[in-house]
Amino acid sequence: MNSSPILQITDLRKSYGQTEVLRGVNLRVNAGQLVCVIGPSGSGKSTMLRCCNLLEVPTAGKILANGHDVLDPRTNVNRMRQDVGMVFQQFNLYSHLTAIQNVSLALRKVQKLGRAETKAAALAALERVGLAHKADAMPAQLSGGQQQRVGIARAIALKPKIILFDEPTSALDPELVDDVLGVMRQLRESGMTMLVVTHEMGFAHAAADHVVFMDGGVVVEEGSAADVFEQPRETRTRSFLSRYISRSTH
Ligand SMILES: Nc1ncnc2c1ncn2[C@@H]1O[C@H](COP(=O)(O)OP(=O)(O)OP(=O)(O)O)[C@@H](O)[C@H]1O
Ligand SMILES: [Mg+2]
Repeated sequence: MNSSPILQITDLRKSYGQTEVLRGVNLRVNAGQLVCVIGPSGSGKSTMLRCCNLLEVPTAGKILANGHDVLDPRTNVNRMRQDVGMVFQQFNLYSHLTAIQNVSLALRKVQKLGRAETKAAALAALERVGLAHKADAMPAQLSGGQQQRVGIARAIALKPKIILFDEPTSALDPELVDDVLGVMRQLRESGMTMLVVTHEMGFAHAAADHVVFMDGGVVVEEGSAADVFEQPRETRTRSFLSRYISRSTH
């Protein structure tokens, strides 16, 4: 597998007022990798992800995303965001637009395609998430899992070089989680590079090429899924994982 980095984060820091929530994060995602970030609530996972496409402005550090120096004021942010897709926990679909209109809107804003080309590209993206037959449905007529798959279609339609996922299944009823995780696995098989913040430990263990455990605004431990889940080195990782295991067996 190609081992060139699509995303490289170096000594990333972010403060809100006096509180430093990212305290020097280093992280790398290589081309074609699925990297999962796990860690307790408040450890800075979302903040780190949002810094990568400037939804949050870092206080210090360096982020290279597909060659864009994200913090360089000369960087064209819109161009950078075409390469760095994002899928949110709450889907963020427009409720007054159909599935295909939601996907098309993003395409039209970003790529200056004609109407027919936009529609074809949007439909192709919906097909990849198994929802071509729901193209004309309104979000309210879709299950949460289907809405999230539209959110994924919207991201992939723009042909990003990497997609950032922030807990994409956390707002879903348990029976809908697997559909969305299945789509993410397929994306990975198709070669998409993905950075996924998740509380789905089974998914991270089974599907991730690399797992990063964050706590207190730093990366405490990282390695292969087998290393991190089966032989964690750090006490904090062990205690986090044991809480998960005890929760899932109750
Ligand atoms: N806009 C903000 N203003 C002030 N503090 C913030 C802001 N956003 C996040 N924080 C703080 O930064 C810390 C990290 O938050 P973040 O949302 O990144 O954590 P997280 O790891 O994603 O947690 P969770 O698993 O609950 O989603 C938290 O202590 C949070 O309260
Ligand atoms: Mg979060």
